Amino acid sequence: MNVVILAAGQGKRMHSDLPKVLHPLAGKALLGHVLDTARELGAEPICVVYGHGGEQVRTALSASDITWALQEPQLGTGHAVLQAMPGVAASAPTASSTLVLYGDVPLTRASTLRRLIAAAGSDKLALLTAHLDKPQGYGRIVRVAGQVKRIVEEKDADDAEREIREINTGILVAPTAALARWLPTLGNRNAQGEYYLTDIVALAVAEGMPVVTAHPDANWETEGINSKSQLAALERVHQRNVAERLMEAGVTLNDPARIDVRGELICGRDVGVDVNCVFEGRVEIADRVSIGANCVLKNCRIGSGARIAPFCHIEDAVVGPDDIIGPYARLRPGTELGRGVHIGNFVEVKNSSIADHSKANHLAYVGDATIGSRVNIGAGTITCNYDGANKFRTVIEDDVFIGSDTQLVAPVTVGRGATLGAGTTLTRDAPPDQLTVSRTKQLSIPGWKRPTKNANPKKKD
Ligand code: UD1
Ligand code: MG
Repeated sequence: MNVVILAAGQGKRMHSDLPKVLHPLAGKALLGHVLDTARELGAEPICVVYGHGGEQVRTALSASDITWALQEPQLGTGHAVLQAMPGVAASAPTASSTLVLYGDVPLTRASTLRRLIAAAGSDKLALLTAHLDKPQGYGRIVRVAGQVKRIVEEKDADDAEREIREINTGILVAPTAALARWLPTLGNRNAQGEYYLTDIVALAVAEGMPVVTAHPDANWETEGINSKSQLAALERVHQRNVAERLMEAGVTLNDPARIDVRGELICGRDVGVDVNCVFEGRVEIADRVSIGANCVLKNCRIGSGARIAPFCHIEDAVVGPDDIIGPYARLRPGTELGRGVHIGNFVEVKNSSIADHSKANHLAYVGDATIGSRVNIGAGTITCNYDGANKFRTVIEDDVFIGSDTQLVAPVTVGRGATLGAGTTLTRDAPPDQLTVSRTKQLSIPGWKRPTKNANPKKKD
């Protein structure tokens, strides 16, 4: 099975320098969605017809299973598929049929395409068609006695044809040899002066080849994107579908209309997600985890029973079982937390491991640190990991207590069981089991008076 994906169109109505097919839906380029669907069908090779923003498209999506065909200038959909034929013939001379997809139609389900492919068999032309209440703008399927005879484009249609509600989605399967025969014979004497792929239908009928149809389960499967508004509408459709799948698998969503998954979200049992959370990349959430409102989680793992309070930002990090994170915590790349760890509000952790039952509950920066178990990190503690040129590690061993507002100037080690007095600026290692404190001596001045307010202040002139 060959797949040809048409992606040469300019996308003028996006009003953007980014080629249309590179605009993201759920964090992935429109064309990326179509490529993944083609791969799901086991298609090989996949030929992408590109034109506008060509090199940018190729670079963004290059993969070994794609062959690229340049269409320059763009003379219509028939001309576009024609550009793909040499590549198709060279890389898969034996593949008997060709599926035509569109780089700006991202949400077609593989199951729908399988039905279309099955309807085509090896010797029929199969069209994916839909019935629309408002068919304006689409090519119409002209049937005589129930049999498809041709497709007429809106701009070429007469009044009666415009009444037809069965439309051409554009997606079709044809025998490859027949396509190779038909495409070079297409003309462009029509309202748009284009070589229409849709004209192959009349050619098939003329040859006596059966033309059959299949239909999508839902019309959004075949909707294309030409504007930001349509992009946003399909994004919502996609997110609603993702939310439905999560709920079917047992995830509690406080509002399925207020979750965004831009990647892969894998959830265990009894997971709850409050409103306005965004999941990016691959996020794995174990059993009994609750995620509070307004969290952003990217490429991370959350251990069972963990509670993520509202407004947390977690990226490239591992949260341990039964941890309590946030509200307002930021876990940056390289954070690995053990079991029962508490990270509280306005605490930032980066490239650090924090072992079981340790706590940093308020206003702290923990960067490039290795922290043992049962450590208490007081409010306002900062690891000074950067001297302006290089980064250094801080090591805090088990059972350490760090007083509030402490600076740990790395590289530095705090020995097991040590206590650091509040306000300490630690520049040398602190020995285990002792109190280490760096602080100026406290001073009190007897008899000192506060200035008082002058009853008749003189005006300065
Ligand atoms: C096409 C169909 C129409 C169908 C509609 C569905 C034809 C002649 N008409 O119409 O029957 O109802 O799609 O949306 O096929 N493209 C190229 N190179 C080109 C022209 C187009 O790659 O020279 C690509 C575009 O990027 C786009 C797709 O083909 O992804 C469809 O092109 P578009 O101009 O939107 O098709 P329509 O004229 O709307
Ligand atoms: Mg057009």
